[in-house]
Amino acid sequence: MNAPHPLSAAGGPAPAPTPAQLREEADPTERVQPIPLVVAGVAVAMVLAGAAYILASEPFGMAGLGDQRTVADLRPAERGTAAIDGKQLFTANCVACHQAGGTGVPGVFPPLDGSEWVTGDARVLASILLHGVEGELPVRGTVYKGSMPAFAQLADAELAALATYVRTSWSNQAGAVAAELVEAERKQNARTKPFNGGAELGALAGPSTQR
Ligand code: HEC
Repeated sequence: MNAPHPLSAAGGPAPAPTPAQLREEADPTERVQPIPLVVAGVAVAMVLAGAAYILASEPFGMAGLGDQRTVADLRPAERGTAAIDGKQLFTANCVACHQAGGTGVPGVFPPLDGSEWVTGDARVLASILLHGVEGELPVRGTVYKGSMPAFAQLADAELAALATYVRTSWSNQAGAVAAELVEAERKQNARTKPFNGGAELGALAGPSTQR
């Protein structure tokens, strides 16, 4: 048997390092070199200065930054009091079917631009929005047979803004619609089903159209 291996835990005094081991440099990890205090101090100072700058500059109040809107612009308007944006309501509720230009989709969704239902009796238009329409409906010489959903969930003022928007957009030049008209129409007609096409709507417009 030879002498025990130098790394074995066989006990006894550790063998003296060989000349080859003495020549080796220490591993780099064996020396801990902390960041110099000056560098650490500068880094901390920069973070603090940045935070202080953001807090002091009130970036949310500066209209010149970002998309130029101020806090006042972003505060939601109080429902019913401030002007309601008919175009915004139209984009949110109607564009999917009737298209942004009010052109509709040929054969599927009737146009609002130039439609006799839009520019005619405002009470009929309000009724269409409140209750929806189903069945045959002639619009600008073409008969549509689709299903228009009811929008009774919107407030009177919102429906009035919508009606006003479609009556005054594109080539339409009919008058504005007041929230009172929508309110009266909502009270007067308590139906729960959509109108059955143009015949029923036409009867609604009937004699009382001449006001
Ligand atoms: C899901 C699709 C759809 C949405 C959303 C929709 N409509 Fe309609 N709308 C129709 C269809 C379909 C008809 C035709 C109904 C028929 O054939 O009986 C119609 C008919 C109409 C009419 C009468 C016909 C005409 O072209 O003038 C008006 C006015 C109208 N819609 C306005 C609106 C407004 C305003 C909105 C948004 C609040 C709206 N619609 C949302 C599908 C839709």
